[in-house]
Amino acid sequence: MTASETPTMAAGTTETAPTVVTAQAEAPVLPGPLVLRPEESCAFVIFGASGDLTGRKLVPALYNLFCQDLLPPGFAVIGYAFTEMDDASFRERMRDLVKNSPEVLVFRPKLWDAFVPALHYITADFENPDGYASLTARLGELDREHDTGGNRLFYLATAPQFYGPIALNLGRHGVAGRESRGEGWTRIIVEKPFGRDLNSARRLNDTLHTVFAEEQIYRIDHYLGKETVQNILAFRFANAVIEPIWDRRYVDHVQITAAESLGVEHRGGYYDTSGCLRDMFQNHLLQLMALVAMDPPVRYGSQSVRDRKADVLRAILPIDPAGVDAVAVRGQYGPGRRDGEALYGYRQEEAVSRESRTETYAALKLMVDNWRWADVPFYLRSGKRMPRKLTEIAIEFKRVPHLFFHLTPQDRIEPNVLTIRIQPDEGISLNLGAKTPGPEMRMCQVQMSFSYSSALGEFPATAYETLLLDAMQADPTLFNRSDAVELSWQVLEPILERWESGPSPAPFPNYEAGSWGPAAADALLAADGRAWKNG
Ligand code: BG6
Repeated sequence: MTASETPTMAAGTTETAPTVVTAQAEAPVLPGPLVLRPEESCAFVIFGASGDLTGRKLVPALYNLFCQDLLPPGFAVIGYAFTEMDDASFRERMRDLVKNSPEVLVFRPKLWDAFVPALHYITADFENPDGYASLTARLGELDREHDTGGNRLFYLATAPQFYGPIALNLGRHGVAGRESRGEGWTRIIVEKPFGRDLNSARRLNDTLHTVFAEEQIYRIDHYLGKETVQNILAFRFANAVIEPIWDRRYVDHVQITAAESLGVEHRGGYYDTSGCLRDMFQNHLLQLMALVAMDPPVRYGSQSVRDRKADVLRAILPIDPAGVDAVAVRGQYGPGRRDGEALYGYRQEEAVSRESRTETYAALKLMVDNWRWADVPFYLRSGKRMPRKLTEIAIEFKRVPHLFFHLTPQDRIEPNVLTIRIQPDEGISLNLGAKTPGPEMRMCQVQMSFSYSSALGEFPATAYETLLLDAMQADPTLFNRSDAVELSWQVLEPILERWESGPSPAPFPNYEAGSWGPAAADALLAADGRAWKNG
């Protein structure tokens, strides 16, 4: 494969800041793949292979890895689902999806033809023993045909109620425990949602642990595979100027926003039983918060990094069940407009109840009860059908203690804000006060900004590529450990209980599709003399 055949991932769009002092990074020292091809061959079994995730994310990611020569030397995929298909129809279906996938920037038919013999399919029920017998037989064949070396990586991409039964069936059919018999390794990747509350997450952990050791379980959160999310650690801990000011002495508050312009699309059936808190907070938002708030790990490794993140989750001040309304706001979108286009309300979406009380927006104020962050609020929000897609972390610093520029009153000087733009315009910027040109000593705001697209050019991998590769290489650093998952549910438990047992706020739906969410979310910050930053 030549370099020109290697698909590249372009990043971000152009900056629109008022006055920009550009801090360009130097060209990367090591161009080309930053990761090594896994040495150990394996078979990759996707349960739920006829579903959305397989064609939208998993197979495109595998194809991209193949194109970069990053799949193990012996590799094969078995799709396992109850939709009737054979190898040929599965391959055909995947070809169409991969060809049109936004994750695949360049589809090269020749490379596809070289990749496709690795794809196989079994039509079977997740709970039927015959399916597991066929799977075992097929895996044996693949070990011979594709040299997969007896190693198995399972991926649970089914509806969550099947996670436990599949794991148990894998145990019953002799898949777990193979390592002790010297028959190759076994790992299992578990998609979100991991439970729907603390108890169900604990039960699922217990079930998985009856079959797999914790080191074999990879609980995926695709946010952790995003380049910009991984860069939070690099930015914080590879720059001597950052860490000394990263605490309660200098930081006024932190805002974490994950706004989506899309509605629930064709996922209404799932979403209506889930809601924004379960869908986005338990995993992505609390993980972002943990990365922002964690103490430095001793080394970049799965134990150290995950210990420090768990410390943050453990330190989040428990929400008083009687005080939920003071720290948590929920919203649901009604009909609205964006750029002249009429948008449906949530209750009009396909597969959503006409009386649904499910939240499509949530905003929380969380406090971290430790030395570093005491009294510094973390405001988190996420919502569907917002004006645009925007995932970012804004760290607002305290105002200067004394200002002697008499032409600019103290309250007219904006505090410094460091913004980590996770997507779509990936980068980091810092707002600074500067002198307005002219004879008088007046202040204005300028922005120092770094943009991935102009500084570093391209992303080597999408989130799923990174994470699948890590799982093949037995690196769980970017996956969630059982304690973190349970701690996250514990944080949200009082809110879930309150929202499920109490009446919806009136009115509900309470924000228009295409707007920035309910007025109550603005009031949450206004009560503290603060306001959301909308990008
Ligand atoms: C998923 C949620 O985990 O993340 C979706 O289930 C959401 O509802 C998606 O749209 C957002 O991911 P991203 O990468 O587009 O920000």
